Amino acid sequence: MIAIGADHGGYELKQTIIEHLEVQGIKVKDLGTFSDDAVDYPDYGHAVANAVLDGTCEKGIVICGTGIGISISANKVPGIRCALCHDCFSAEATRLHNDANILALGARVIGPGHALKIVDTFISTPFSDDERHKRRISKINYQQ
Ligand code: RB5
Repeated sequence: MIAIGADHGGYELKQTIIEHLEVQGIKVKDLGTFSDDAVDYPDYGHAVANAVLDGTCEKGIVICGTGIGISISANKVPGIRCALCHDCFSAEATRLHNDANILALGARVIGPGHALKIVDTFISTPFSDDERHKRRISKINYQQ
């Protein structure tokens, strides 16, 4: 199952992505927002992060206007590797190299057709499982 969440800036693209995934038979957990009324992006970034961390969902997608605020918010949750990707090369690389568990998109940055290709790439690309990437991922959590 894929968790998805957006603020008002990402609401419309969220609905497009949900429809796109559901017609492929992919189950989606919609964590809001449920209209284009203004809301606060951290609430939705954290909700998706928690759904991924507790194992309810294997991956997540977060969307705001730029994708920046909601990706920063999701990445504050330990164990989350949220990648803001506006091209398919990055979406593939972040799965192969970073084992990213959440994709962030900016609905005011790219169009829906491009966004859906990025979503498909992110979801269908497995982690490489290479030792060098595992080692680097294990060093991500910073400790002074
Ligand atoms: C909301 O207006 C906007 O600030 C938000 O969607 C996002 O772009 C923040 O990073």
